[in-house]
Amino acid sequence: MSQTYEKLMKSYEYCKSKINIRPKVALVLGSGLGDFAKQVESVTEIPYSEIEGFPVSTVAGHDGRFIFGYIGEVPVVLMKGRVHYYEGYSMQDVVLPIRLMKLLGAEILFLTNASGGVNKAFSAGDFMLITDQISSFVPSPLIGANLEKLGPRFPDMSEIYNQDLQEIIRETAKEENIPLQEGIYLQFTGPNYESPAEVRLAGMLGADAVGMSTTCEAIAANHMGMKICGISCITNMACGISENPLNHEEVQETANLKAPLFQKLVKQSIIKMG
Ligand code: HPA
Repeated sequence: MSQTYEKLMKSYEYCKSKINIRPKVALVLGSGLGDFAKQVESVTEIPYSEIEGFPVSTVAGHDGRFIFGYIGEVPVVLMKGRVHYYEGYSMQDVVLPIRLMKLLGAEILFLTNASGGVNKAFSAGDFMLITDQISSFVPSPLIGANLEKLGPRFPDMSEIYNQDLQEIIRETAKEENIPLQEGIYLQFTGPNYESPAEVRLAGMLGADAVGMSTTCEAIAANHMGMKICGISCITNMACGISENPLNHEEVQETANLKAPLFQKLVKQSIIKMG
C-alpha cells in the first residue's frame, strides 16, 4: 500500500470514529472566510493537529480544524484553514483533506479562495464564479502510482466545475443581489506574489484571476468523482494591473470587508445544493 493511501486511511479511520454525521457538502474556506464557521450548527470539531500525520498550517495563529455540522438542513464538513503547497508540503499532503472529506461522504466540494484580479474588467472586492482552471504551473497531486481505489490513472477534466452547481450559485447571487463575475482561475505556487510579467502571462493564457490554492484540490476531487464548484474573492488587482505594491494585510483587509456578503452567497448556495 502506498504511503499516501496508508496515511489517508489512518486519517479516515480516526475521523470516522469521532463523527456520527455523513456530510454531503465539503467547504474549504479561503483567507478571511474563517469566520464562516459561525454559520454552521456545529456537531463535532476535529483540530487537524489531532490527526496523526495530518498537514497543519505553518502560518502562526492558523488553528486549522474540520467542523462537522449543518447549514440549514444540509450536512456539511468545513475546512477552517487549508495548507498550501508553498508551506513545503507535498501535493499529496496538500490534497489529503479533500480526499478524506470525500471518503467521509461528501459528494460536493465547494472551494473558496482569495485571489488577484487579472481581468481588467474586474475590481478589488469582486466575487468570481470559477468556471475553469489552469493548473499547469504547479505539480499535479496525481503524480506517482495511481491510487486505483480513488480514481482512474488518466481522469477526464472536461467539466471540472459542475454546470448545475455553477447555475445554483448564479441564481443565488441574482436573488441576493450580489454582483458576480465569472472566470478562469490560475494557480501559481506562491508564496511570493506574481511579477507584472507573470500577471501579463497569466492574462495571455486566458486567466481572469491568480492565486496560490484551489486547482490542485479540484484535480484531486475530480479524480474521485466529486462535483466541484468554487468562488474566488478578488481581494486586489494583481501586480502590474494595479499600480500599487501588494501586501498580505491589504488582501486580508479586503477579504474581511467582503466576508459578510461572501458568506451569504456561500451559505444560501449550499442550502440549495442540499
Ligand atoms: N496573487 C496571488 N494570490 C493572491 C493574490 C494575488 O494577487 N491576492 C490574494 N491571493
